[in-house]
Order: sequence, then C-alpha cells, then structure tokens
Amino acid sequence: MIKVGIVGGTGYTGVELLRLLAQHPQAEVAVITSRSEAGVAVADMYPNLRGHYDGLAFSVPDSKALGACDVVFFATPHGVAHALAGELLAAGTKVIDLSADFRLQDAVEWAKWYGQPHGAPDLLDGAVYGLPEVNRDKIRQARLIAVPGCYPTATQLGFLPLLEAGLADASRLIADCKSGVSGAGRGAAVGSLFCEAGESMKAYAVKGHRHLPEISQGLRLAAGKDIGLTFVPHLTPMIRGIHATLYATVADTSADLQALYEKRYANEPFVDVMPAGSHPETRSVRGANVCRIAVHRPQGGDLVVVLSVIDNLVKGASGQAVQNLNIVFGLDERMGLSHAGLLP
Ligand SMILES: NC(=O)c1ccc[n+]([C@@H]2O[C@H](COP(=O)([O-])OP(=O)(O)OC[C@H]3O[C@@H](n4cnc5c(N)ncnc54)[C@H](OP(=O)(O)O)[C@@H]3O)[C@@H](O)[C@H]2O)c1
Repeated sequence: MIKVGIVGGTGYTGVELLRLLAQHPQAEVAVITSRSEAGVAVADMYPNLRGHYDGLAFSVPDSKALGACDVVFFATPHGVAHALAGELLAAGTKVIDLSADFRLQDAVEWAKWYGQPHGAPDLLDGAVYGLPEVNRDKIRQARLIAVPGCYPTATQLGFLPLLEAGLADASRLIADCKSGVSGAGRGAAVGSLFCEAGESMKAYAVKGHRHLPEISQGLRLAAGKDIGLTFVPHLTPMIRGIHATLYATVADTSADLQALYEKRYANEPFVDVMPAGSHPETRSVRGANVCRIAVHRPQGGDLVVVLSVIDNLVKGASGQAVQNLNIVFGLDERMGLSHAGLLP
C-alpha cells in the first residue's frame, strides 16, 4: 500500500482527494491536515466519507509525520508547498502539488502573478508539470509534480491537437471559459455566496487571470513558438464544472479536424473526443476524471471552435492528481478513476 499524506484536507480539492482515494486499491491515507479542524474526525466533517476513514482525524501539519509518507498531496493555497516541499523531498517523499506553486517554470513570472517572491526557486528544475497527455514519461521519473489548474487543463487539452499540428494561427487564440463556484475553494467569500453567485453569470479578471501565464506556457511548448492568447474566465451558477469554448483560425480548411483530434487522443484514457457535431455538457463529466471535447468549424469557415468540458475538482484538480500518483508509482493510470460521471 502507498502511504499517503494530504495537506489541506478540509478544502474542496482535499475532500475530493479523500473521496477518490477511498476507492483506490493501492493507496491508504495516513495523514490528513487542517489547522482549523485539528482533532476532528474526517467523517464528522464530511459525512459522505462515513465508513471509509474510520479512526482518521485531521491534524496540524507536521513535517515528520508527512515525511514518513510515500507521497504527500498539497491541496493548499499558493505558498504552502513552497515552504514544506523541500523538506519532504529530502526525506524521500514524493510531492504532488495541486496549487500553482510549481506550475510556472519562471520564478520571476510566478512572483509577478502571485504578488510575492517565489518561495522555492531551487526546486523548479526538478518540478514536472503534471499534464499526463503531454508529460507522461517525465511524470514517471518525477519526485515533485505540479498538477495543472482547472482552466489550464480544459484549455490546453482543447487547443493541443491544433497547435501541435501547426494548423492554427497561434498568435490569435481565444479561450472563453466558464467555471462553477467550487473553483474558488471553500473559504468564505462574498462572491461565492448563494445570493451573489446564483441566477447570474459574469466575466472576471479580463485584464489578466493567474491561469493566463500557465496556459500560455503550455500552448507555447505545444506550438513550438510564441503564442497570443485572450483568456476570459466567467463565474457561472453551478457547483462543479468548467466549460471552455476555444477559438482559433486555420489557414488550411481542408484538414480533417475530427480525425486529427481522434488520433491525438486515441490512447488517452481520460480524454473523450465526441462524434462530429456534438456539444459536450459539464454534467456529463461531473465527478469523473474526464475531459470531453468536440471540434467544430461553423459554416465550413476558417474559424475552428473547440468545446472542452471537465469537472474542475476532478480532471481539473484531484482526479488528475490521482492520475499522476498512478503514473509515478507505476500503477495502471486508471486505477481508482474509472467511474462514470453523475448524471443527471
Ligand atoms: N477548487 C478548485 O476547483 C481547484 C482546482 C484546481 C486547483 N485548485 C488549487 O488547489 C488548491 C486548494 O484549493 P481548494 O479549492 O481545495 O482550497 P480551499 O477549499 O480554500 O482549501 C484550502 C485548504 O488548505 C488548508 N490551508 C490553508 N492555508 C494553509 C496553510 N498556510 N498551511 C497549511 N494548510 C493550509 C485549509 O485548511 P486549514 O486552514 O484548516 O489548515 C484547507 O483545508 C489551491 O491552490 C487552488 O488554487 C483548486
């Protein structure tokens, strides 16, 4: 059994890790931290987990207990993994970080977007960006994995085939993305209140969102050159889900884009290219570690529209983190992750 620690067990991605790992035959959660709920039994806080984690209670983060685990997930705000990851890696523990701490390769760029100095620039060389559809071989060898963000996962998986094939005008990409409110985490905030977020929809951070440099970094690597991206996130009145509507122009309108997408993802267990003409729904991936994609070229013109949906807490966070765990420990990548989405 793989001995697992989770830092930040009371947040939405933390409890989603617990839900997924409860079904994982090779992983056992030994340590789960929360500073505010230390001493509280996991099942008392999250009754959906009753019967799965008997005897497990939240504890304050302790590097000795965490360092005795085979792997530690960080489901914490940015900056926390910076402070603790080095010590755990030195103890021989693998680190899978769900925050943005190690996603950007450039520490100066990170400091610009996160408004504080990068706390562990010396670890960046060894950090692997945990998007299995791009970096599977590197993930196998990794000790420190940066799990991609939710918008970045939906957007990159949607654009990758076009950019890798050199078909799109990489200088004018548009990502129009919608997120459910759980994307903002469990912390109390006025904007996440039912009466504020319900029955309404709005764009935010149009000037520049923290996920922009992460998406740009991945798309630049896929295209092999600089790219131009306009990324507009929206908040929508649903609990889970990301819907990315992606736009790119192509010079060659004769390319068979459906075939291109099907071929690119033919061997990917968690990317589902839907039949031509489809409109994937966020509810079809709710609770499932799947990115569902459809590619369109309206009226046969040169503008390609890609629709890409994920559950922000699963393929956009905790499910992808478990997928990385499976890869790094040499297990079947689908282990504990093969359930279908919740519908309706
Ligand atoms: N929500 C999403 O859809 C999503 C998707 C992808 C990635 N992410 C990223 O995943 C991370 C966690 O997100 P979330 O939505 O689960 O957040 P959250 O609901 O706000 O939970 C944060 C967790 O971290 C703990 N924590 C906070 N400050 C800490 C500190 N200084 N030291 C140790 N523990 C601390 C909190 O517990 P205590 O305060 O009790 O210790 C809590 O359990 C974030 O970096 C987020 O950007 C989130």
